[in-house]
Amino acid sequence: MNLTINGRTYQVADDPPRVLLWVLRDELGLTGAKFGCGAGYCGACTVHLDGVAVRSCQTPLRQAAGRAVTTIEGLARGEALHPVQRAFLEVQAPQCGWCMSGQMMTAAALIAANPNPSDEEITAALERNLCRCGAYARIRRAVARAAVLACGSGEAA
Ligand code: FES
Ligand code: FES
Repeated sequence: MNLTINGRTYQVADDPPRVLLWVLRDELGLTGAKFGCGAGYCGACTVHLDGVAVRSCQTPLRQAAGRAVTTIEGLARGEALHPVQRAFLEVQAPQCGWCMSGQMMTAAALIAANPNPSDEEITAALERNLCRCGAYARIRRAVARAAVLACGSGEAA
């Protein structure tokens, strides 16, 4: 079957027991999406399917076929980091970093759907992305900053 990931087409074996996360990490070398719980709880494996944040550890390969898969490796546009990436760097959100690609993919989907999220909307959108380092306050600050950067009003800051 063909998978379109970050704008590139890959041919992978149609193997029903496999989920998207394993193909990304073990077969295609796209290791940005992380394995955390493997059970849909933590969000470390979050990627986009047609722009919607999904848990790749729970996504059967066939569900991804024919759709646009975006991973953290495909979030930047060439050398230009996505506003979410810039904001997470600016705020120095990561501690160990393990949860961060999932946090950023969830944040990017939020901002694409809701360019001006309230604090409550940010908290609600990110509440199922767990951070064992407890960097939640910085993560929420980074998402709010990303929304500002994305709409251009914070470019000069
Ligand atoms: S590894 Fe997928 S939700 Fe935890
Ligand atoms: S920064 Fe370590 S788990 Fe979130």
